Amino acid sequence: MASARLPSDFLWGYATASYQIEGAAAEDGRGPSIWDSFCQIPGKIADGSSGAVACDSYHRFRDDVALMKRLGAQAYRFSVSWSRVIPLGGRGDPVNQKGLQFYIDLIDELRANEIEPLVTLYHWDLPQALYDRYGGFLNKEEYVADFVNYAQIMFEALSSRVKYWITYNEPLISCTLGYSLGIAAPGHTSDRSKSSVGDSSTEPWIVAHHILISHAKAVQLYRERFKPIHGGVIGITLNGDWGEPWNVDDPEDVAACQRKMEFAIGLFADPIYIGDYPASVRLQLGDRIPSFTDEERNLIMGSNDFYGMNHYCTAYVKHKSTPPAAEDFLGNFELFDENKEGHVIGPETECPWLRPYAPGFRRLLNWISRRYDRPPIYVTENGTSIKGENDLSKEEILQDDFRAGYFRDYLNALAEAYTFDNVDVRGYMAWSLLDNFEWDAGYNVRFGVTYVDYTDQSRYPKKSAKVVAEIFKELTARS
Ligand code: NOJ
Repeated sequence: MASARLPSDFLWGYATASYQIEGAAAEDGRGPSIWDSFCQIPGKIADGSSGAVACDSYHRFRDDVALMKRLGAQAYRFSVSWSRVIPLGGRGDPVNQKGLQFYIDLIDELRANEIEPLVTLYHWDLPQALYDRYGGFLNKEEYVADFVNYAQIMFEALSSRVKYWITYNEPLISCTLGYSLGIAAPGHTSDRSKSSVGDSSTEPWIVAHHILISHAKAVQLYRERFKPIHGGVIGITLNGDWGEPWNVDDPEDVAACQRKMEFAIGLFADPIYIGDYPASVRLQLGDRIPSFTDEERNLIMGSNDFYGMNHYCTAYVKHKSTPPAAEDFLGNFELFDENKEGHVIGPETECPWLRPYAPGFRRLLNWISRRYDRPPIYVTENGTSIKGENDLSKEEILQDDFRAGYFRDYLNALAEAYTFDNVDVRGYMAWSLLDNFEWDAGYNVRFGVTYVDYTDQSRYPKKSAKVVAEIFKELTARS
């Protein structure tokens, strides 16, 4: 059999996000975001830290671009801090030219080094003022109009320089962890809301609904006004961990797996590619999830030029026979990360939710390709933490064989999906360029191919950085 490969024009590089790397939280006019506030709540961040300094990439971005160049990356996915550009977030609020200029300078630096920028508009850091004013995502009219206004400002400033746009990163996390469980910003639980339109049994789904509408409106604007002049593509990035049945011979566990995928991915991708929420989601949530008007449905349907895919791991899925509670955001199935007899899923990492299993990556690529009629896919994040990495010496951390092995297995699975399964995958961004602020885990968890010494911000590429470049060289070599 021919060996798995990738096309020679395959786009690969690294991903980061504004709050996780930029720092400079109070500099040059940046306004506070919901993550600045969330980090101040005692007990929310494991090590009591915040992204106030992070990797200081706001000041060191030229070094970081040079680093990427040395690592052989062809692309860089980063996100814009909305509150750096519009400190108060809304229509009519002043635009911070210094904030905008930071992104223009970053992109120019990337282009000068022949690194393709991929820009995410929203990676979880909503301007705090918009949450204070109207509850953020909960207010459809206000929120959608403010997001489109922000998108327009970014399109106007950057469209001539940027060909890849991502509206949202992992919106499911904003819904569930941000607006139900309270473990991500804004830590909203319905009793804290000043402008609650529901409670924790409905609010995550109202948030999902409004995010979808705002995504589609921003895409419409881009397609009408910017794409005809500058070209470029736009899409949304969804998280999707694969589910393997706890017992493959039990049809109920197999069906629960399918429901898990529909709940996590179909919730957003079905309206975009098929025109409505999956039947299984509707069955479980009933009218706890809003319905689209015809106009909204038509707007959302077809609103992706590509599918942005974040993927890290696989979990076992088991059917749950008791009816799910109203607040149960997972759906009527249970997830298991622990080992079971004869388990195939990989070892523990530093994140309880992350068990590597490269075949799950190939299966997920196939699942998306089949369900949504072979969309172009860009893998916008993939990577791993390592159990105990943060307790090791710098020298030991630099020998990250576990991460290098993870990338080898996952990139082979990616090439197999492309070569043997006819999946139209066109790009891959490893998470992450740098160790960085890992949300509620703070700096305890490292995901970088580059070690960051937070005492002096020096950067040291780990072994995995070299391995990733080597693998892409092999996989994209013309035969
Ligand atoms: C996905 C998120 O988009 C990113 O911000 C996070 O750091 C990684 N998962 C790792 O947890």
